[in-house]
Order: sequence, then structure tokens, then C-alpha cells
Amino acid sequence: MSEQAASARVAFLGLGVMGYPMAGHLARAGHQVTVYNRTAAKAQAWEAEHGGRAAATPREAAQDADFVFACVGNDDDLRGVVLGEQGALAGMRADAVFVDHTTASAEVARELYAAARAKGVHFVDAPVSGGQAGAVNGVLTVMCGGDAAPFDAMKPVALAYSRAVTRVGESGAGQLAKMVNQVCIAGLLQGLSEAIAFGQRAGLDMKQVLDVISKGAAQSWQMENRGHTMVDDQFDFGFAVDWMRKDLGLVLDEARRNGARLPVTALVDQFYADVQTQGGGRWDTSSLVKRLK
Ligand SMILES: NC(=O)c1ccc[n+]([C@@H]2O[C@H](COP(=O)([O-])OP(=O)(O)OC[C@H]3O[C@@H](n4cnc5c(N)ncnc54)[C@H](OP(=O)(O)O)[C@@H]3O)[C@@H](O)[C@H]2O)c1
Repeated sequence: MSEQAASARVAFLGLGVMGYPMAGHLARAGHQVTVYNRTAAKAQAWEAEHGGRAAATPREAAQDADFVFACVGNDDDLRGVVLGEQGALAGMRADAVFVDHTTASAEVARELYAAARAKGVHFVDAPVSGGQAGAVNGVLTVMCGGDAAPFDAMKPVALAYSRAVTRVGESGAGQLAKMVNQVCIAGLLQGLSEAIAFGQRAGLDMKQVLDVISKGAAQSWQMENRGHTMVDDQFDFGFAVDWMRKDLGLVLDEARRNGARLPVTALVDQFYADVQTQGGGRWDTSSLVKRLK
């Protein structure tokens, strides 16, 4: 299948930090975009900036759409825009594809997949990695679960804001892959935090040390993109601790079901609770280092 997307009728539900720029990329790619946002002012601002149309309900936005994208907060928010009389499913035509970019549970993905299939609609769980900068610059990584045919159909459209869109399995598998991503990040950030706090106590110029060791085996995205700001105690940007705790809650729930042992992840989740107590719920996840300084 060609990766070049033909112009499609699309809806985008949820114009937050992530959704607003993602929907903007869809408009710039030439799609006819209808947006919905719970707080209508954001949808109006988006409409003023990008053209397209703002709808009053998810159902109205989804009417006649080939693809309905969503990026809202958590499982319940997602149910709120998908189900019910004013939900997107009530407005979607048979064979249209719902693509969910929310970081949510694998369970809600399977639940909504079943609800969609019962109406002849397709549902792809498609959480993203890459953060606000990835959304603004259109270079997100998208991990998808669901049926192959609707995935093949949505991929060229989602490439408007992504550099990689990959199907990793059946319904729920995209959310499970995102959980793997968050397990990696949690442990890694704690290691990086300990390294920086240790180096600073030892009297090292830690920016210089990070520049040196990021050329070797300790290199990571977090080290390259967050190392210097961690040294400087700057956390007023990025991926919020509150969101990370939501994500780690999803991970730990899933681990209770599948029997996986996640001792470090569970501990780091508690460290993030400390950061929230310090008033850091909206700080970037690299603020783990604050506990150690
Ligand atoms: N920010 C990141 O770096 C990042 C990275 C990867 C993944 N994610 C994930 O992407 C999702 C969105 O994150 P974000 O940073 O864009 O969040 P955000 O800025 O807080 O935006 C959340 C969006 O969801 C809408 N919403 C929330 N609850 C709703 C409800 N019950 N009904 C209808 N709409 C509702 C909000 O509408 P209002 O405007 O009315 O509040 C807003 O448009 C989350 O699952 C997050 O974990 C975020």
C-alpha cells in the first residue's frame, strides 16, 4: 500500500498538548478536519488557526468521517468521547476507523474494540511516544494494536504527525507496547538521577561528564535531552509527573494480571508520588532527581 495518504475526512477529538498540534498536521496534509474539544474555546482557537470545522459533540464531529482520531486523558475520558448518545460511535458510519492516541489500558482498548465491531466500525489503539516536541514537529512514534486492514488504512494518514507507525499485535497490543516504553523510561530516569546526584556530590562538572559519557554505552535519549536541565534543576516543561503516575498505574495493574515482576518500576512509582507531594505533579518526569539533591 502506498504511504501517501489521499485526502480524507477526519475528526480529531481532544485538542490538548498533544492533540492540538497533531490535528494541525492533519489539516496541513490536506485532510478535511473536524475537531471536537470538551472546552469549546480550544476548538474555536484551532479552527481559527487551521480552518476546518469545530463540532459541538464527538458524535457530530464523527459524522461522515473516514477516520476519527482521539487523544484525551485516561480510560474514563476515552469512554466519555466514544460511548453514549453524544459519543463518536453513535455518529460513525460502518467501516470507518477510530484511532485512539490516548495512553490508556489494554482493557479499555479491547472493550471499545468490541463495542466498535458490534457497530461495524474499526478500532485501533495507537498510543504515542515522543512528547509535546514530537507532536509539534510531527515526529511521533505510534504503537498500534488491532486488525491489519484498518491499520493499513490509518497508517498513511497518521504519518502526517509521525515518523513511525507500527502494528505490534491485536487489540490492546499498542497499549501494552506503550507500557513497555514507560517501564524502560522509569528505571532509566532513576538511574540517571542517581548518577547526576552522585556526580554533583563528588564535585564533578556534571554537564561536562554527561557530554563525555553520552558518547559511550551510557547514552540515552533522556541523558541527551534532559541531562543538562536535570543538573540545572529545570523541570517546568515536558511530560508531567501526573501523567507518568497514571501510566505506571496502568503498568502495575497489568503486571498484577499477567504476573510480571516489576520491583524497580513499583519503587519509582512511589518516588514519583514523593515528587507530587513536593508540588511537582506538572513537572517533567526528569524531576525524579529532585528527591536526591
Ligand atoms: N504530553 C505528553 O508529552 C504526552 C506524551 C505521550 C502520551 N501522552 C498521552 O496523551 C494523552 C493526552 O495528553 P496531553 O498532554 O495532550 O493532555 P492534555 O493537554 O491534558 O489534554 C487532554 C485533552 O483531553 C480532553 N479531555 C480530558 N478529559 C476529557 C473528557 N472526560 N471528555 C472529553 N475530553 C476530555 C481535554 O479537554 P479540555 O481541553 O476540555 O480539558 C484535552 O483536550 C494522555 O493520555 C497522555 O498520557 C502525552
